[in-house]
Amino acid sequence: MGDRDTLPGTDASLWLETTERTDYPALDGDRRVDTAVVGGGITGVTAALHCAEAGQEVALLESDRIVEGITGKTTAKVTAQHGLIYDDLLDKHGRTAARQYAAANAAAIEEVADRVERHDIDCDFQRLPAYTYAASEDQRAKVGREATVAEGLDLPATFVTDPPFPEETHGAVEFEAQAQFHPRKYLLALADVLSGESDGGSIFEQTKVTGVEDRDEGTPCRVETERGPVTADSVLLTTHFPIEDPAFYFARQYPKRSYVLAVRLVGDPPEGMFYRDESPYFSVRPHPTDDGSLTLVGGQNHKTGQGGSTADRYRKLERQARDHFDVESVEYRWSTQDYVSVDRIPFVGELGPTTDGVYVATGFGGWGMTNGTAAGRMLAAFARGESPQWAEAFDPNRIDLEASGRDLLSENLDVGREFTRDWAKSPFRGKDPEVAPGEGEVVRRGGKQLAVARDEEGDLHVTSAVCTHMDCIVHWNDAEQSWDCPCHGSRFSMDGEVLDGPAVEDLPKRGE
Ligand SMILES: Cc1cc2nc3c(=O)[nH]c(=O)nc-3n(C[C@H](O)[C@H](O)[C@H](O)COP(=O)(O)OP(=O)(O)OC[C@H]3O[C@@H](n4cnc5c(N)ncnc54)[C@H](O)[C@@H]3O)c2cc1C
Ligand code: FES
Repeated sequence: MGDRDTLPGTDASLWLETTERTDYPALDGDRRVDTAVVGGGITGVTAALHCAEAGQEVALLESDRIVEGITGKTTAKVTAQHGLIYDDLLDKHGRTAARQYAAANAAAIEEVADRVERHDIDCDFQRLPAYTYAASEDQRAKVGREATVAEGLDLPATFVTDPPFPEETHGAVEFEAQAQFHPRKYLLALADVLSGESDGGSIFEQTKVTGVEDRDEGTPCRVETERGPVTADSVLLTTHFPIEDPAFYFARQYPKRSYVLAVRLVGDPPEGMFYRDESPYFSVRPHPTDDGSLTLVGGQNHKTGQGGSTADRYRKLERQARDHFDVESVEYRWSTQDYVSVDRIPFVGELGPTTDGVYVATGFGGWGMTNGTAAGRMLAAFARGESPQWAEAFDPNRIDLEASGRDLLSENLDVGREFTRDWAKSPFRGKDPEVAPGEGEVVRRGGKQLAVARDEEGDLHVTSAVCTHMDCIVHWNDAEQSWDCPCHGSRFSMDGEVLDGPAVEDLPKRGE
């Protein structure tokens, strides 16, 4: 347990390892633009480019380097097939909303294809069918129904009895002509196009946004950054989890963390993208490289900060990969997380019921390549003062207790359970907790909850264990060497630095 040296593959995302780091300048002083976009993942880059193409002056503000967040660690299937979702959407939200979700995601695939062609982007873009397969006879009916519903929503769906997967299946729903790509090659090329649209530069890296004020009676929005303020008519918040939360997004979506291995097979990878919609899910797609194809396998999802050793998740995923395929070697491993909205439709639109001019996109449910692309287009339309196509289904201020009721309740009860259990359980310890290199432990000392971790060099790091979002106690993530919050998914480095929201404040350091 906890021994990272025995984990399979190099600890790095394939996408980050095979592209250069970007080097856009930081913001330098005040700036006035039409639209400020906060966060440079797929949503932010796409939104900013749409704004610039419409003739707007844009500032894309990124706290670190663009496309290194969740988008830098995805599996990058570009598909409107999101597991078994359409039957559920039809049931929960009705035909109009299900159709809007389907149309937005199908259009996103065509937008990506169109941009690849228009800008001649070399990003391993490839059309492939996508399959969600039934692994048991019980699932067959569900998969068949999904095919019928999806076809009725004008998606290119059919039920096939014998998908080209090495394992025996009980049929699958096939979506024709979906796609996959190298997300960083695609988005870094779009960023080039975006920066070429503006003389004064439009991408600012290492520019962390610390606060956003909305429009107020003729006064534009104001974005505070560590490098100076930006005033803008509209602000698009594309920070994955929104850095401002006036509408309780933390209670309406939950974090799902999952794991990816890039493996080399003996022989060829299966032809197509595959998904088994169970918990945990199992995802497979090929990825061409100069020296033969890799196969990406993903899964082992769990709620962030819950579910025990994360290192064990990689081991289980490797076993699963070997059960399905003849694996020659494991080349890379990485993991990341996405937010799932309790009613399964992302939130895209006005940030809160009373905010003006600030728009958000979050809760992509593990399907942000298309949802993020569609959201980027919708956000840019909002920034132009238009009412975008499909926006009704994605309205963040929708209140539909029937669609989200049971899941909303159970997610928030789960948070309550974690909160009470963790505050009661950490052991009392004296001055020197015995924490091995690469391990972390929460201890109680003098009435304080402390997060104590030792790095591989043997140095001890001690911070508060109380999450700065809403006071839950963080848990040790042994694979990523981070402190993860089981309540709403905030993550912190060993030294307490925020890695993932909703928290925006670091864990305070404590003396040993
Ligand atoms: C394991 C895994 C596999 C997945 N595979 C697929 C797949 O195959 N297909 C698919 O469609 N989807 C997939 N997804 C989902 C998809 O990757 C995400 O939904 C998508 O990448 C989210 O993009 P984003 O732009 O919202 O966020 P991000 O890419 O995280 O971008 C947000 C950016 O905001 C920046 N930021 C944060 N705070 C600030 C601040 N204060 N100031 C300035 N900048 C800030 C961050 O640094 C980051 O760069 C997967 C998800 C996971 C977890
Ligand atoms: S993320 Fe909400 S309490 Fe930690």
